[in-house]
Amino acid sequence: MATILAIESSCDETAVAIVKNRNVLSSIVASQIDCHRVYGGVVPEVASRQHLLAVNTCLAEALQQAQVSWSEIEAIAATVAPGLVGALMVGLTTAKTLAMVHQKPFLGVHHLEGHIYASYLSHPTLEPPFLCLLVSGGHTSLIQVKGCGDYQQLGTTRDDAAGEAFDKVARLLGLGYPGGPMIDRVAQTGNPQAFPLPVGRISLPTGGYHPYDSSFSGLKTAMLRLVNDLKASGQDLPVADLAASFQATVARSLTQKTLACALDYGLTTIAVGGGVAANRELRHQLQKAAQEHHLTVYFPPLKFCTDNAAMIACAAAEHFERGDRSSLKLGVQSRLGITEVHHLFEN
Ligand code: KG4
Ligand code: ZN
Repeated sequence: MATILAIESSCDETAVAIVKNRNVLSSIVASQIDCHRVYGGVVPEVASRQHLLAVNTCLAEALQQAQVSWSEIEAIAATVAPGLVGALMVGLTTAKTLAMVHQKPFLGVHHLEGHIYASYLSHPTLEPPFLCLLVSGGHTSLIQVKGCGDYQQLGTTRDDAAGEAFDKVARLLGLGYPGGPMIDRVAQTGNPQAFPLPVGRISLPTGGYHPYDSSFSGLKTAMLRLVNDLKASGQDLPVADLAASFQATVARSLTQKTLACALDYGLTTIAVGGGVAANRELRHQLQKAAQEHHLTVYFPPLKFCTDNAAMIACAAAEHFERGDRSSLKLGVQSRLGITEVHHLFEN
């Protein structure tokens, strides 16, 4: 079974991990949240510089924690797309350098494929076909996983990603960055039925609504109006009730679309990935709905929901076993669809 060292640096976490097939030997994550908090969001240039400062320490810690020598590591992988270009460059350049110095094969990994593979880490017996609900700061996708590198996107968001909506609404409520965990925490003491809010729907030209695509911009505007009206009436903002109502609406929207997609495509297993998969209300609603329809849902543990390098190494391990290798000339890409994963490999 392949032992892979992987680097993840697509956004605001510098991460290095060593994974043997689906076993995590080490996983180090250096979060930059404190650096970006003062700006209320991720500043790309700050992110690149922080990755540069952190990557060597993360590497040393990952090797130390795994207790493996370079001779045991079979390949080096790095996230190469999608993400912040300057940030991705740090991980890619580090990985290529290590591959050259230690004469190991190099593999470029798609960040979203990594999020899919987070479920294999926590549930090693999971096998395709299954439906993956991928909900992060940049993506909201329903992906049919047919095999390694073989994906079909069945649903997406037409505007904000789910995590982005959490981050923007948290800012509106004065909860700070990153918004998802803050809303999740504050909502614990709120009433999710306090404010009725709209679930975004996408009209089809032929009539009716798209069954799997999401939209969060209408919900975000409804929250803005609500907050402005409450402020204008001179009341203190019922932040916990607002957070709970918003969170319940996002969870309801995602649950409805995921369920419809799984049932229509006859997929009995759902794996959830990305930072928003950590959300307690989403976990609760999706678990309950799936149980009612005799479907299985897998949520990775929180440390594998948010960005980490173990999921990147796990995806690379399977590509490596299949003989996939990337060119040392491979560059980074800010955007790349999940259906284009094969472009990252030479054969
Ligand atoms: O997957 P991730 O770590 O990075 C991206 O690839 O984007 O996801 C980060 C996103 C952020 O928008 C953050 O607010 C959201 O995941 N998030 C959450 C929770 N934890 C993180 N959203 C809702 N509830 C949470 N508990
Ligand atoms: Zn991510």
